[in-house]
Amino acid sequence: MGGGIAQVAAFSGLDVVLRDISAENLQKGRAQIEKSLRKVIEKSEAQDKPALFDQTLERIDWTTDWADMEGCDLVVEAVFENLEIKSSVFQELDRVCGPQTILASNTSSISITKLARTTRRPEKVIGMHFMNPVPLMKLVEIVRGVLTSQETYEQTRDLASAVGKTPVEVKDFPGFISNRILMPMVNEAVFALMEGVADAESIDQVMKLGMNHPMGPLRLADLIGLDVCLDIMNVLFDGFKDSKYRPCPLLVNMVDAGLLGRKGGRGFYDYRDAK
Ligand code: CAA
Repeated sequence: MGGGIAQVAAFSGLDVVLRDISAENLQKGRAQIEKSLRKVIEKSEAQDKPALFDQTLERIDWTTDWADMEGCDLVVEAVFENLEIKSSVFQELDRVCGPQTILASNTSSISITKLARTTRRPEKVIGMHFMNPVPLMKLVEIVRGVLTSQETYEQTRDLASAVGKTPVEVKDFPGFISNRILMPMVNEAVFALMEGVADAESIDQVMKLGMNHPMGPLRLADLIGLDVCLDIMNVLFDGFKDSKYRPCPLLVNMVDAGLLGRKGGRGFYDYRDAK
């Protein structure tokens, strides 16, 4: 998702520094951005499409060095959904970035208030939760932690609009709004599959044709990543202490087996032969 966020920011005319932990990851990210950008520009009404493609890519600096983040006005963190890893990234950003820099997290469910506490600038920490695939989805949840300042909120909201997204303000409760509603539906679909109520294709067909969802919940889970879905269910379960959020054992088993969805080639569906 970090690549998608960098892409929409650069496409909107912003200068972007994209940091990853290795040159290999940066290369993969670049390939993903180029592929998506080509599709987006192909559909646009731009007069000079090759120039728009080149200009967008030129706005991105690719780096593995924390020090290159120093001058950024706003940083969006998009690492794994793990509080410890995210906290260490926030501490590093707090160290290298100037005092004015807003530190935003693309977390799908981890507490912004907890992340903020790991920095010396909790008033400048906020959630900026993009949806997958980032270049296509309009929504950004802007998540206010307990100590997020009004100024930080307004600047982040305006930035989301500036990159062509529609910001929606939410408070810092487990799963925010998007995943508090989406993930129990996905989890319930996995229960229905486990109980043999219907097969995966049929479950997805019901939600596509009956509810006009663009894709069924199991295919969507594959797109999001089954590990991410499980992490989010665990955050809901731990946060609310309510059994209605217990992760389906089949979801747990699939993650244990390394069946993580599209990114790994197999999930509820098999993508290994897909072009
Ligand atoms: N960049 C650019 N273009 C892309 C793209 C990308 N990453 N992915 C797909 N496209 C393009 C395709 O090339 C295709 O273009 P053409 O019509 O010209 O062929 C077009 O988008 C439609 O794609 P598809 O035909 O492959 O499939 P589709 O019509 O089903 O659309 C979809 C794909 C937009 C993903 C749609 O299925 C959809 O909206 N699905 C639901 C997505 C969703 O719910 N996202 C939120 C997940 S929750 C989340 O992200 C938050 C979290 O915390 C977990």
